[in-house]
Amino acid sequence: MKIAIVTGASSGLGREFVRQISKKYRTIEEIWIIARRRERLEELSNELSDISTRIFAVDLTDDKGVKEIEAALDKDKPSVRLLVNASGYGMIGRFEELAEDNIGMLDINCVSLTRMINIVLPYMTNGSGNIINIASSAAFLPQPSFAVYAATKSYVLSLSRALNQELKPRGISVTAVCPGPVSTEFFDIAEKYNDVKLYKKVFRAKPEKVVEAALKDTFHGKTVSVYGFTMKALRVLCKLMPNDFIIRFIK
Ligand SMILES: NC(=O)c1ccc[n+]([C@@H]2O[C@H](COP(=O)([O-])OP(=O)(O)OC[C@H]3O[C@@H](n4cnc5c(N)ncnc54)[C@H](OP(=O)(O)O)[C@@H]3O)[C@@H](O)[C@H]2O)c1
Repeated sequence: MKIAIVTGASSGLGREFVRQISKKYRTIEEIWIIARRRERLEELSNELSDISTRIFAVDLTDDKGVKEIEAALDKDKPSVRLLVNASGYGMIGRFEELAEDNIGMLDINCVSLTRMINIVLPYMTNGSGNIINIASSAAFLPQPSFAVYAATKSYVLSLSRALNQELKPRGISVTAVCPGPVSTEFFDIAEKYNDVKLYKKVFRAKPEKVVEAALKDTFHGKTVSVYGFTMKALRVLCKLMPNDFIIRFIK
């Protein structure tokens, strides 16, 4: 059976990936949808009448959660056409202020994402498998008061680019998606201690557009997917100017 696996499927970008994959990937027979909030996954599953879904209401930072998915893969031995790693969170604030959340971000944004790739890779379709990792435009530059989050996203970008090269002989591509601010529940969590900057409130992309561009870029074999002119310009700027100079203007 050909399947897609999407983490972070209960809201935002992950949920939108599930919706668009169900319409665009006609050969996929089932989508495995993963997040902690079961009721949200059930709502999504009911909404998708054309494709079957399998719900994994698990915490990916918990060993038990990952083992449940690993056991299902081992039992069913599906052919995984697409893996989308969209679970994650960011928290704005100074390093000392965030305390345990510094570790929490590392756990879900880096460790769980890596574990998902580890357990899914043996089942990925040679020749046409795609891994989509959601990084962020925060990956382009170290960010004071968003330091651990930006560092976790640099990890995701670096890992994706290296793996994309490494997996070429198997015909598997890896795309890092690097959006700027997107209208999702992300900011409800990010702003727990501090507000985001005004421009991040005003200029938010629609998840539908970011996901549409990401799936198109994946189809065309791009290693990095950046939606929108402003974020593309930021990426170029971060390559051209010394990072130590730019970060002086980020408080
Ligand atoms: N929105 C933005 O501005 C933006 C910009 C750049 C990058 N990103 C990245 O995009 C990705 C998706 O974020 P989003 O914007 O779609 O935010 P979101 O709406 O808050 O979605 C985050 C998803 O991650 C899941 N998740 C969080 N912790 C989890 C855990 N321990 N175990 C399992 N699932 C977990 C959440 O599900 P449950 O709570 O149900 O578990 C939810 O489905 C994140 O990696 C984020 O860093 C977002």
